[in-house]
Amino acid sequence: MSILAKHTKLEKNASLLLVFSFLAVTVGGIVEIAPLFYLENTIEKVKGTRPYSPLELAGRNIYIREGCYVCHSQMIRPFRDEVERYGHYSLAAESQYDHPFQWGSKRTGPDLARVGGRYSNEWHTAHLKDPRSVVPESIMPPYSFLAENELRIEDVEAHLTANRMVGVPYTDEMLENAEADLAAQADPNADTSGVKERYPKAVLGDFDGDPLRLTEMDALVAYLQMLGTLVDFSAYEPEQNLR
Ligand code: HEC
Repeated sequence: MSILAKHTKLEKNASLLLVFSFLAVTVGGIVEIAPLFYLENTIEKVKGTRPYSPLELAGRNIYIREGCYVCHSQMIRPFRDEVERYGHYSLAAESQYDHPFQWGSKRTGPDLARVGGRYSNEWHTAHLKDPRSVVPESIMPPYSFLAENELRIEDVEAHLTANRMVGVPYTDEMLENAEADLAAQADPNADTSGVKERYPKAVLGDFDGDPLRLTEMDALVAYLQMLGTLVDFSAYEPEQNLR
């Protein structure tokens, strides 16, 4: 029987076709999906990435709580128009410690994956309090209450611990110092040597214009100011990381 005749037999028998289709899909699925379970091989190691500092993580929680992801993506696709507007396309490694990730699927506002360092703290605070005070045509809602709300710091160590349980490499030292590091990062007069050592490139200082109070605004702006700043793209070469 020629191969074609065999195939005709398969096509004419529904049960046989079902069995063979199932086999084909299973093999294809295993070949495509199984390698992804070995995440170490899927995400290239990139110099500069690190877990969020406690203050940044607190800010990130507020970002999620307020639903900023509904209007903002955090993922620059490798297309010319996006790269020219937002900067180097996003690397998988840049969101490897994100639980959950904030790639988003809607851009009512611009992508925020590399907004860190693009504006001053004063600009961010003014913009979040009243977007139209700095961008007259803006349709972004105001979040002025963030500057009124004291930041809850009691549970920050628990947040770090939860992240560690899902694979973020927080050390015991980071957990022990979580509360102190959080306060120090937002206090211009604090000893910040520990924060700097544990979280390289963390942006330090007062963020909301009121150095005496630690508010949700401080945390959110600290988070925005570090987005996309960890990897040094002048030294980054994709091929190097594949070796
Ligand atoms: C209803 C949609 C919407 C929501 C929700 C929203 N934004 Fe925006 N955002 C915008 C729009 C539109 C712009 C562009 C105009 C402007 O700069 O205000 C923008 C601009 C921005 C910018 C300036 C980006 C740039 O590159 O110029 C930042 C930073 C920002 N938003 C942060 C946030 C944060 C943080 C939250 C959550 C607390 C948030 N946004 C919630 C719509 C939104």
